[in-house]
Amino acid sequence: MEASIMLAARVYGKQDLRLVDIDEPSISNPNDVIVHVKAIGICGSDNAIYNGNNPFAELPRIMGHEFVGMIHEVGQNVSEFNIGDHVVVEPISYCGKCYACRAGMPNACENLKVLGVHKDGGMQQFIKVPLKQIHKINSKIPWTTAVLAEPYTIAGNATMRSQVGLGKTVLIQGAGTIGQLALRVAKVKGARVMISDVAASKLEFAQKNGADAVVDVTTEDLKQRVSDWTNGEMANIVIDAVGSVQTFQSCLDLASVAGRIVPLGFSTQPVTITQKPIMQKQLTICGSRHQAYQFEPIIKAIENGQLDNHGMVNQQFAFKDIQAAFDLMNNHPEQARKIVLLF
Ligand SMILES: NC(=O)c1ccc[n+]([C@@H]2O[C@H](COP(=O)([O-])OP(=O)(O)OC[C@H]3O[C@@H](n4cnc5c(N)ncnc54)[C@H](O)[C@@H]3O)[C@@H](O)[C@H]2O)c1
Ligand SMILES: [Zn+2]
Ligand SMILES: [Zn+2]
Repeated sequence: MEASIMLAARVYGKQDLRLVDIDEPSISNPNDVIVHVKAIGICGSDNAIYNGNNPFAELPRIMGHEFVGMIHEVGQNVSEFNIGDHVVVEPISYCGKCYACRAGMPNACENLKVLGVHKDGGMQQFIKVPLKQIHKINSKIPWTTAVLAEPYTIAGNATMRSQVGLGKTVLIQGAGTIGQLALRVAKVKGARVMISDVAASKLEFAQKNGADAVVDVTTEDLKQRVSDWTNGEMANIVIDAVGSVQTFQSCLDLASVAGRIVPLGFSTQPVTITQKPIMQKQLTICGSRHQAYQFEPIIKAIENGQLDNHGMVNQQFAFKDIQAAFDLMNNHPEQARKIVLLF
């Protein structure tokens, strides 16, 4: 039988993104499902692939690791899902054998594979995915909210690693997409949250988004503000959602005694830090890569209304207009909190 044809968007090289007609997938493994993709979020890392700046991606590649859709077909062994169920796809898969997997950190797996990076992802009409990468979500949740589940899991992981909890003070550097979502998750976990940025518009949004304090680092001294806000204690948790040399370097000074620091960026530029504050304050610097075991709690929090869209998705494009979406992201990044493509 001849396969049906479907639409996909594939990156062939730097800024060479093409809409292509390809064969629809068919099920060969009984543990696989086929998802009819409905919405895909565009991430900063997709834009890095598009611009030739993502060393992890192998080209040509169908991007997309933030996506949701409906069950279209299930393999013989799949009894948990029915055709038409709304699902969120977990983009990572891991070996289960290496030290990270055995230590309960499969997100740091030696053989980690990410849909949209190492394998073709969600920027296509239908995608075949193993059952274990599928999570059900209530069909009442709009696609434009459900699609935030994956970026919310990044915040879920960062706040889990840094033990964000009731009554703790959290400083988030960077009120971009990840910073805003981390703010929401930290609030749901009961923390007090201060957030910084260089752009007034981002801070304005953060205020609507529940921030207890905002700092414009172009006009204010961040260290002084954190000190005043915490009565000199400094922040129990510092999440660097900028990833610059300067922001990472500053985390050690901004953290309280027994503080935890999460650098989310992956810059390879050297940073100068000293040992003394790490020793003296007994700081913990926590890596946080993608997420592990965060989809279930994040989806529950979305379903019960604790986490929502909150105006995050402020740009929507029909899938066929994907080029316009990337043009907006590159030419007017200030206008794009989260861009979503819809089928
Ligand atoms: N570890 C992971 O799993 C993971 C996942 C996703 C993203 N990331 C990383 O997280 C970081 C944030 O991603 P994003 O998508 O939110 O990016 P973004 O570009 O949307 O946000 C970055 C924000 O930082 C602000 N900023 C710049 N300089 C600043 C400074 N000195 N102080 C305070 N704010 C400043 C910018 O104005 C912007 O609002 C990036 O480094 C990204 O690579 C990591
Ligand atoms: Zn992403
Ligand atoms: Zn592994």
